[in-house]
Amino acid sequence: MPNTDKQDRLEAVKQRILDDGITPELKEQATQLVFGEGNPNANIVIIGEAPGKKEDELGKPFVGASGKFLNQMLEMIGLQREDIYITNIVKYRPPDNRDPKPDEKKAFLPYLQSQLEVIQPKIVVTLGRHSMNCFLPDLQISKVHGEPKRVKLSLKENKGDILEVIILPLFHPAAALYNPAQRQTLIDDFAVIPIIMNKIKSS
Ligand code: URA
Repeated sequence: MPNTDKQDRLEAVKQRILDDGITPELKEQATQLVFGEGNPNANIVIIGEAPGKKEDELGKPFVGASGKFLNQMLEMIGLQREDIYITNIVKYRPPDNRDPKPDEKKAFLPYLQSQLEVIQPKIVVTLGRHSMNCFLPDLQISKVHGEPKRVKLSLKENKGDILEVIILPLFHPAAALYNPAQRQTLIDDFAVIPIIMNKIKSS
């Protein structure tokens, strides 16, 4: 499918969030919707929790301190932001950077699924427990980080169709920023991404 078509379909999902008036309380306090950005033909989609202050200001995901570390880790495995697609579960900044609430995550989930349905990635990298639990609700990130899990997602737009993806649950980069041990764990877990990609290519 050509790039522009996917880009148009993603724009339509973004417009739907606005038209449907999702999480009006969050919207009112935020500067803008942070929908997601990157390559609509990417094999890898990275999903964080919710925009922070900088993301809210600029309207782009992971452009603050966590984003800088994320970019470094991507570089370590030979990737750039242009190669992947990045988004968050919750697409408005929660006040004072509090954790997203269950009803907020639930409200945005169908739109996140639509984004995945358009992009059709092979790997979904979840950052942090909130993001992981959208796809793997019963698992604990401290036990399964860095372990790829095969998941079947039922699609929203083409009802009845299934998207099979590999979820790679990782710790959130914010947790690793000031903790050297966590930082190394995250770097080691990130190195699993090219291993999965190579396996997919050769299978
Ligand atoms: N943390 C997130 O989870 N997402 C962002 O976009 C920025 C920081």
